[in-house]
Amino acid sequence: MKKAICLAVACSFLAGGAWLIAARASESGSGGKKASAGKAAYIGSQSCRGCHTSPGRGAQFEIWRASRHAHAYHTLLADSAKAVAQKLQLAQPPQEAPECLRCHVTGGNAKPEVRGPKFNVTEGVGCEACHGPAAEWKNVHMRDPEKARALGMLHPDEAVCRGCHNPGSPTFAGFDYAAARQAIAHPNPTHAPK
Ligand code: HEC
Ligand code: HEC
Ligand code: HEC
Ligand code: HEC
Repeated sequence: MKKAICLAVACSFLAGGAWLIAARASESGSGGKKASAGKAAYIGSQSCRGCHTSPGRGAQFEIWRASRHAHAYHTLLADSAKAVAQKLQLAQPPQEAPECLRCHVTGGNAKPEVRGPKFNVTEGVGCEACHGPAAEWKNVHMRDPEKARALGMLHPDEAVCRGCHNPGSPTFAGFDYAAARQAIAHPNPTHAPK
């Protein structure tokens, strides 16, 4: 009961209750194909490290690790996050609140069963938040990208980004897709630009 009141109060702070509506779409930030129940679908960014570190092929892991995405969980521990949570009168601290985790962690509020043993929330917004849960395609994609795509590997488009970069973010200040995509770019220099 107490929780319901808190939510209603939080809602009244927000024009049209858009934030709450967005908060209910609990897995909107999970990046494409939903993790199917019972499968260890999210395997964590460390699973990608071994093969995506070479500078000659784009060092995707290092670029990601230096990005804000890799620190999105840690942001929830900061005073700035506590201030946001207080204003919304959340029942839990930000790093435990589903209302925050859904965009600050890969797979949002995915159930524990769809997280593999190496999955780690402290990785924040990892590879699979954009490229899709990889358990089924990780060992396939280097040989057969077509098959990997059928198994859920994504070449993320604007809609994937906007799954999190939207007014449901309490600190949202607009989203310039072209600039943002440039800011996170990690192309393989041996490939033609996409
Ligand atoms: C065993 C090595 C290996 C691992 C582990 C690995 N990759 Fe790859 N990946 C490759 C190779 C090889 C390619 C093809 C060459 C390239 O694009 O660098 C590739 C290509 C890709 C591509 C482009 C696919 C396309 O359609 O061209 C993406 C996206 C990708 N990997 C993401 C990931 C993610 C995310 C993970 C972790 C879940 C991961 N990879 C783990 C070796 C690996
Ligand atoms: C799972 C949710 C999620 C997805 C999907 C996502 N982002 Fe983010 N993004 C975040 C969060 C959360 C932050 C803030 C991280 C922090 O500072 O703690 C962020 C920060 C950023 C930033 C740096 C902050 C800024 O505003 O300049 C850029 C750039 C960015 N994202 C671009 C993208 C692009 C481009 C895509 C799609 C290809 C994308 N993001 C997809 C959640 C997401
Ligand atoms: C709909 C997705 C979404 C939700 C839900 C969300 N965030 Fe974020 N958050 C983002 C994105 C994207 C960014 C980076 C750009 C921006 O502010 O929109 C971000 C940035 C932040 C920042 C850094 C702002 C800055 O620029 O310094 C803080 C702090 C933050 N979020 C706290 C929270 C807290 C606390 C919650 C839960 C009450 C929360 N967020 C819920 C997506 C989200
Ligand atoms: C915020 C979203 C986002 C995150 C996080 C992210 N990527 Fe990407 N990635 C993209 C986008 C957008 C592209 C360009 C479109 C495409 O080729 O899929 C891309 C492209 C790639 C490519 C293909 C490069 C090429 O030129 O062929 C590889 C490989 C890749 N990512 C690997 C990774 C790995 C590994 C991680 C984690 C360490 C990661 N990505 C994290 C959004 C993301």
